[in-house]
Amino acid sequence: MNLRPGIPADVPRLVDLERASPTAAHWTERRYRQSIEPIREDQRRLVLVAEAAASASAGPDLLSGVVGFLVARHLGREWELENIVVAPAAQRKRIGRQMLEALLAAARESNSESVFLEVRESNAAARKLYESAGFQQAGRRKSYYTDPAEDAIVYRRSLP
Ligand SMILES: CC(C)(COP(=O)(O)OP(=O)(O)OC[C@H]1O[C@@H](n2cnc3c(N)ncnc32)[C@H](O)[C@@H]1OP(=O)(O)O)[C@@H](O)C(=O)NCCC(=O)NCCS
Repeated sequence: MNLRPGIPADVPRLVDLERASPTAAHWTERRYRQSIEPIREDQRRLVLVAEAAASASAGPDLLSGVVGFLVARHLGREWELENIVVAPAAQRKRIGRQMLEALLAAARESNSESVFLEVRESNAAARKLYESAGFQQAGRRKSYYTDPAEDAIVYRRSLP
């Protein structure tokens, strides 16, 4: 599994992965493009894609090509994880964890104090991933999500 920065040519695949994932944050194609090519310096984002090497045993859309991505925003001395998605066929192979660790490393390198994120209360898989990576519950945003309405749990990971 190779992690690399996202490029404009990845955008259609990122949109496909996100659309196949009901619990992901849903963005327009334009927003993904602007995340990769920000029009203003203060809109700095990290877009990481996880790419599996093509192999004879991997069928189409299985473990080959881009199988996951992460988008995070740098805000002062904090980072916000805005979206993280792994294709269903590639889940539970530590790809999400690897991308999260890469974000934590980038945050440390930028001298930041913490990384935070919001997640649907019912998203047990994502919450487990965050907790296993050292994120701690820092708050709740009542009815933050719509369709369906649900509270957001805010997690924060302080950086040493
Ligand atoms: C959340 C998500 C990114 C996790 O990616 P992943 O690559 O499957 O996760 P990993 O394999 O790195 O899992 C790391 C740890 O997280 C926890 N975890 C991940 N998925 C889990 C699941 N379905 N059930 C329980 N625990 C889970 C486990 O502790 C796991 O470690 P283990 O496999 O050794 O037990 C993936 O499930 C996904 O894309 N979900 C849909 C999109 C989404 O909801 N994104 C979050 C929006 S806030």
